[in-house]
Parts: sequence; C-alpha cells; structure tokens
Amino acid sequence: MTDPWWKSAVAYQIYPRSFCDTGVGAEGVGDLGGIRRHLEHLAWLGVDAVWISPFFPSPGFDYGYDVADYCDVDPMFGDLDTFDALVADAHALGIKVVIDWVPNHTSIDHPWFVASRSSPEDPHRDWYVWRDPAADGGPPNNWIESLTMGPAWTFDDASGQYYLHCFLPEQPDLNWANPAVVSAMCDTLRFWLDRGVDGFRMDVVHLIGKDPSLADDPAEVAGLPHVVLNDRSETHAHLRTIRALLDSYDGDRVSIGEVYLLDTELVAEHYGNDDELHMCFNFAPLHAPWDAAAWHEQIRVAASAFDPRGAWPTWVLSNHDNPRHRSRYGGSEARARAAAVLLLTLRGTPFLYMGEELGLLDAEVDPTQRRDPAGRDGCRGPIPWDGTPTHGWAGDSPWLPWPPDAARRNVANLRDDPTSILHLYRRLIAIRRRTAALVGGASELVDSPDGTVAFRRFDGDSSVTVLVNFLERNVDVSSVADVVDGTVLLSTIRPPGEPCGAVLEPDEAVIVATGQPGGR
Ligand code: GLC
Repeated sequence: MTDPWWKSAVAYQIYPRSFCDTGVGAEGVGDLGGIRRHLEHLAWLGVDAVWISPFFPSPGFDYGYDVADYCDVDPMFGDLDTFDALVADAHALGIKVVIDWVPNHTSIDHPWFVASRSSPEDPHRDWYVWRDPAADGGPPNNWIESLTMGPAWTFDDASGQYYLHCFLPEQPDLNWANPAVVSAMCDTLRFWLDRGVDGFRMDVVHLIGKDPSLADDPAEVAGLPHVVLNDRSETHAHLRTIRALLDSYDGDRVSIGEVYLLDTELVAEHYGNDDELHMCFNFAPLHAPWDAAAWHEQIRVAASAFDPRGAWPTWVLSNHDNPRHRSRYGGSEARARAAAVLLLTLRGTPFLYMGEELGLLDAEVDPTQRRDPAGRDGCRGPIPWDGTPTHGWAGDSPWLPWPPDAARRNVANLRDDPTSILHLYRRLIAIRRRTAALVGGASELVDSPDGTVAFRRFDGDSSVTVLVNFLERNVDVSSVADVVDGTVLLSTIRPPGEPCGAVLEPDEAVIVATGQPGGR
C-alpha cells in the first residue's frame, strides 16, 4: 500500500482575506479569485497542498471563524462556482485543496442558533449549550473564553438562560452530545467532500466533546481559557465518526486537527489507533523560543509522543493566530532562513503560513486600525505581490496595513533574486522532494555542541544530517560524526556542493549528505 499523499506533502496556509484582492466583493479584502490567480506561484514554489482559512458566509466577528452557513461562499470572497474553479485549477497543477471546518461553534447569525435562541421550546434549543444561571445569578461555571478572556457564558435576557461560547459571545458552542448536531455537521463535511476537496483543517476540534456535567475547571488553572484544558473521551468518539466518514471517500481525504492542548502527549492521543485524526497540529514547538536546548527538547518529545503510536507528526512555525516567527525570533532574516531549514527537514508534514517564504515580518497595526479583538492583526498583513503602490491588489488600500518593507520584500522582487529567502524555500522544498530520507525517513537526534541542534534523517539508501546553529557566532561542529567531510546539499549562507568543514557560521543551517546510515 502506498503512503497517503499528505505524508509527503508540503502544506501552505492561505488566509484568504489577506492573500490577494481581485476586486470581487469587499474592497481591500482578498478573494477566491486572488487565490486562483496565484496558484501558479505556489506550484513554482513547490507546495503540494493549500489549506484555506474560512471563506464561508459570516458576520466576521472572528473574521470567518464564526460561520453563518457551512455550505456556501461569502460574497466577499466570491461564489461556489469560483470555488469549484479554484479546486479544478489547483488539481490541474497537482495541488490538493484543504479547507477549514469549524465544528465547535457557529455564528450567532447561523439559522440554527437563531432558532435555538428564539425559545426554550424550539427544536433547535438543544443544538447549543444552554444552562440556568448559578445560584448567585452568575454564569453556570468558571470557564473562560479564549479571545477576550472573559466568562465563556452570555446571558440571554429573553429566556433567562446562559449559552456557552468558548470564544466570542458571537460564537456559540454547538452541543455535540445531541445526535442531530453530529448528523448535521457530518452533512457539511459531505457537502465539500462531494465538491472534491482533499480534506479539512478542523478548528479546535478537541473541544467538541464536553463534560456533560460542565464542572468548573480546576482552581489551579482557572485563569486559563477552557480551550487549552478540554480533554475528553467524548471528543474521541466523535473523531472516530468523522474519520469513518472521511475514509468512506476515495482519495485519502485528510483530517488535520487543531488540537489546542499544549501537552504533546495529549495531542498525540487524538490520532487514536489510526482511527481518529490523520494529523494534528502540535503547537508546543510554535511557542518555544529560538533556543537550541528548547528545540532539542521539542524534537525529542514529539518523537516520543508520536512515533510509538505510528502517528505522523506536523510542524508549524507561523499561522494566522500568532506573531510571525521571524518577528517572534527577533527579526533577523538569517534566523528566519535557519528556521525554514528546521521546518522543512524535521520528520513530519510541514505547514507554511503564507508570506513566511518572503521572510515577512508582522505588519505594524496602529491601535486605531486594530481589527481583531484578540490582537492578532500583525500576522494577517496582506501579501505584497509586486513593487507597485497597490502591490498587485485591486483598490487602493487593503483591510490591514502592508508588512514592513513591502516595496522591496514582495513576490515579484524576490522571485527575480536567486539569493532571496523565497528561492531558499523553493530550493529546500525541491531538495526535500528528491531526498527520500527527508520525506519518509526515520529521524534521530545527534549529539552536537551547545547552541546547535543536529539530527540525522535516513532511510534504506540515503542519510542526511541537518545542523542548525541557533547562536549569533561561529560554532565548531567537528565533533558531529561525518559532517566535516560530508557534502553540503544546502546552506542558508554558503553555496552548496562543498564539504561542510568544521565551522557553522552565525545563524547558519545546513543539510549535509552523510552517506549510508550504517557507515558512521
Ligand atoms: C482557532 C482559529 C482562530 C479562531 C478560533 C475560534 O484557534 O485558528 O483563528 O479565533 O479557533 O474559531
């Protein structure tokens, strides 16, 4: 049996509002046509799959993660015909299309919630989580919502009850304990599977199973949002249902769970016995600092959590919820280049976030221009496609400010410069594709000097060693077996083809051919 496509894929996240506006729908907001326009660029870069953040009808309190209709396209982004054309274009270029599925909550504008709220007797009442006030009239429990860190409950004057929302009050939680909800949400998956999508990124999917008693979160963690604490057997049962549905389709349709638990072992449990999620995001590394000891530990923990259960890992450094990693790591492009080597050579499926291949920094958003209630605007700055004043976007100004240096740091300019970070990403993806050890090979950490991380990737007939210098000074790596004489396949600083030698330069990362695994 051949491996499913997603095990060898390089995935690329598109946040559609910020990708490219072709003039459809709202001015200054990206659209599906903008994605179609730039698919060729993604094929040139070498990505195998795109994950597109929500483009469904939504009032936009959480910029699309509050869905008012799971089975349509918001006119702001286009229409279903454009979506179908996008899928056809992507497939013609060999790019898979993964869309975002938001199962834990809907928008307050979703007809299900409108009905649910209309009366305690309405048949949809139990599709959401309604409870009477606590004895003191306050919320039914101590859960905290995750975007403004307020109570996870809102009181509905008309019916005298509270409804649960683990995110904004405009994002009421669905009640997955109700089989009608399970069935309706499975239908939304079928809708898109039938249209040919290759899978789903499943938003905070570990949250769908809840403690039926809605007990308080423990006092010692009571300040944390409930989303990072919810770890329930009920979720696992739902994931098995969802998996069986996906597996009933041809073509290895994939589920990628956003399991926002910061303990990698708990994340790994959501793969089940290969009968729950196909892959999960593991966010602990994203929150790790740019520090060799911290990364060594993250790599070790991921291997010990995922490998014994045959769970295929994922790696992600940036997304639409966190400051871009170049910004987080202090702003140096040299470091962003070294981080790219790490991301694209670790064992598992890497997820790039649009614009990291340009080395973008976060946009600087003046407090008066702030859009997101949770302050995540910086990483959502629009992608500059060229050096013109509108950077390849329709209209005069996008919904958020351009990232810094867009006149120089744009796609057209960096494509013209073979030494750019964009070309580094392209080379990395190409080397990955032609080096079996980097795709499906095993991985083992290798002892290396303080301030560096080294690991060997190997399969039957090839072995490469990856070395990353996290320090801003030269480091002698001659103690790392076979590296000195090995040929550099890629360096973030030097040309390839030479022996690696004993010294790594500041912030340098290298991939070195180190021969047969047994030949050390
Ligand atoms: C996920 C999304 C985030 C959103 C939240 C609620 O964490 O990535 O953007 O705000 O879920 O849907």
